Amino acid sequence: MREYEIAAIPADGIGPEVIAAGLQALEALQQRCGDFKLRVQHFDWGSDYYKAHGRMMPEDGVAQLKRFDAIFFGAVGAPDVPDDITLWGLRLPICQGFDQYANVRPTRILPGIVSPLAGVGPGDLDWVIVRENSEGEYSGHGGRAHRGLPEEVGTEVAIFTRVGVTRIMRYAFRLAQSRPRRLLTVVTKSNAQRHGMVMWDEIAAEVAPEFPDVAWDKMLVDAMTVRMTLKPRSLDTIVATNLHADILSDLAGALAGSLGVAPTPNIDPERRYPSMFEPIHGSAFDIAGKGIANPIATFWTAAQMLEHLGESAAAARLMSAVETVTSEGVLTPDVGGTATTQEVTDAVCRTIRGSNV
Ligand SMILES: NC(=O)c1ccc[n+]([C@@H]2O[C@H](COP(=O)([O-])OP(=O)(O)OC[C@H]3O[C@@H](n4cnc5c(N)ncnc54)[C@H](O)[C@@H]3O)[C@@H](O)[C@H]2O)c1
Repeated sequence: MREYEIAAIPADGIGPEVIAAGLQALEALQQRCGDFKLRVQHFDWGSDYYKAHGRMMPEDGVAQLKRFDAIFFGAVGAPDVPDDITLWGLRLPICQGFDQYANVRPTRILPGIVSPLAGVGPGDLDWVIVRENSEGEYSGHGGRAHRGLPEEVGTEVAIFTRVGVTRIMRYAFRLAQSRPRRLLTVVTKSNAQRHGMVMWDEIAAEVAPEFPDVAWDKMLVDAMTVRMTLKPRSLDTIVATNLHADILSDLAGALAGSLGVAPTPNIDPERRYPSMFEPIHGSAFDIAGKGIANPIATFWTAAQMLEHLGESAAAARLMSAVETVTSEGVLTPDVGGTATTQEVTDAVCRTIRGSNV
């Protein structure tokens, strides 16, 4: 029996609802496969913890997570706690503390889910966005001076390092090389941002010859939104900075039907530390507690976690069950259905138990 230690951090809003759903699906998979075991430890960190303790997680929180094989994460964000505290107090310290520099965001239209784009169905939109996850616009550099005075100043400094850009370009080219179309689009803004972004472009061109079988092109981020909307078939693998990919991947999720279906692993490709698996959506206070959060993004990221752990057969079984359930029309309201989170979860668990593939 292969065993893995998993840290579950459901955190805020719909996070606990979708992580509970994900753990039910993982339990059904363990029973069905019978050859691996996930030992899950729950952490109650998040906004409620913050209200009780004045911090989102204990001071040694990142150190406590180090011994795990993977982290299964819900979402952070509460209406009565500033967003910079929730994000910088929990999610970002884990990503940065474990140097999870590759944030990988696959998007495709699952069977039974309708894209808002006319005439675009399964197979027409099949992308992976690689987001630089350790520096760029979210490096945390900057400051405020003369607070509250008319001459107050705030700076937000984007940091691009040769090491950081080179490793994410190599990761993206390698990923593009592993996909059938071998096609990479490098997103940039080097017309207006003439320092870090020009270096970003130069390093892409330097890395490209290492991957002669990958066709690549370059797009300005503004033009990229147009291409994603009007020519989705022209794209495959995409690499972008921390901020650009954050925005583009929400657009990608919406074009594939809903933010509720989009997953995202935060990967340490060198496997020095645990990687973290989460849906891309936030805590969605508008639907929290209503029992209608779409659990598919969390199922998909659970499959990515299994893949990362080396359990490819279980990962494939989970994704196959998800696609069976979506094609049967068992869908939450965000993708046009009437099912609850639990009804979708039950349908996926039933399909896993009954599957023979
Ligand atoms: N990784 C994270 O933890 C993360 C990511 C994004 C936002 N946030 C935080 O979440 C909070 C809310 O942010 P927001 O409203 O901008 O983004 P959000 O992703 O929480 O919600 C955006 C919209 O998508 C819908 N939605 C999201 N997930 C869904 C799901 N699984 N099923 C059905 N509908 C879903 C919501 O109902 C909402 O209308 C903020 O505090 C923000 O900082 C956290």
